[in-house]
Amino acid sequence: MPKFDIRTLETPEEMALVEELQRQVWPGSETDVVPAHVLLTVAHNGGLVLGAFDGEKLVGNAWGFPGLYEVPDGPRPKHCSHQLGVLPEYRDSGVGFALKRAQWQMVRQQGLDRITWTYDPLLSRNAYLNIARLGAVCNTYLREVYGEMRDGLNVGLPSDRFQVDWWIHTPRVERRLGLRPRRELTMEHYSLAEIPALYEVTVPDSGLIRPPGSVPDLAGPLALLEIPSDFLALKQADFSLAKDWRFFTRNAFEAAFTAGYLVTDFIYEKKPRPRSLYVLADGESSLSDLTVRK
Ligand SMILES: CC(C)(COP(=O)(O)OP(=O)(O)OC[C@H]1O[C@@H](n2cnc3c(N)ncnc32)[C@H](O)[C@@H]1OP(=O)(O)O)[C@@H](O)C(=O)NCCC(=O)NCCS
Repeated sequence: MPKFDIRTLETPEEMALVEELQRQVWPGSETDVVPAHVLLTVAHNGGLVLGAFDGEKLVGNAWGFPGLYEVPDGPRPKHCSHQLGVLPEYRDSGVGFALKRAQWQMVRQQGLDRITWTYDPLLSRNAYLNIARLGAVCNTYLREVYGEMRDGLNVGLPSDRFQVDWWIHTPRVERRLGLRPRRELTMEHYSLAEIPALYEVTVPDSGLIRPPGSVPDLAGPLALLEIPSDFLALKQADFSLAKDWRFFTRNAFEAAFTAGYLVTDFIYEKKPRPRSLYVLADGESSLSDLTVRK
């Protein structure tokens, strides 16, 4: 595992490194690179621009700024986290987690209690990091939030996103970021509690899994919704199937959120085949409320 340091970035030279990192993480569209002068303005006005370094090499970055959200009493402050990116060769080494953990610590020091950001709900690695590792929750599905995107990761599909809520003072989040993180729940735990996946996907020889024709009705306190484990590879191999997944999951999540479900966890298993499943809870239900016979 590579060693890396997390630092706050504040100078024009450091922001130029962030521009270059963006070109490598989201290749293909120069107009989508957030320029150094914007990042500097963010950093000098209550925002946070964080870098992960391997020696003097910038290998990951997270940045965001203070924002507002509306409650019936009026606007409340929050931190809006806008981008998290790690160089491909440094992924799955904990860099993304370490950047978010540093963001969590610094935003707490600013006296805020909520961080929000968006991500594509079909990206299993992002889902696992955001929901399972960091303890963010979600009941907000945004259709085509960024319009047509031109960068290599996003081009061609409607830019639907989850907007997640990271309630940074809650025991749920503190436990996941603490030194003794919680024990993860697996498919086995859910099947012992008699909670199967909401639908069966078709698994052809190609391994490119297909969603069912329609979204089954949700019932019960918990539901498991499967997505592809490597959506970007699936999209590259079969673009029309990727579109099917986008529209199927749009319908499934919108129906679930309208019915009062909340995404509270995410399961990623590599064997016997890679499987990625969102856990949705009706209200505050959790597996510990149910009888687990083991
Ligand atoms: C999303 C991203 C920032 C994550 O960074 P990272 O440094 O790889 O993150 P981490 O290593 O801390 O965590 C990734 C976790 O996902 C796990 N993972 C890997 N592949 C996975 C998959 N297909 N499904 C689910 N989880 C997966 C890893 O094992 C790791 O978990 P672990 O720490 O328990 O081992 C990085 O992949 C990235 O830059 N992606 C492209 C840009 C992007 O999508 N940014 C976010 C939206 S702005």
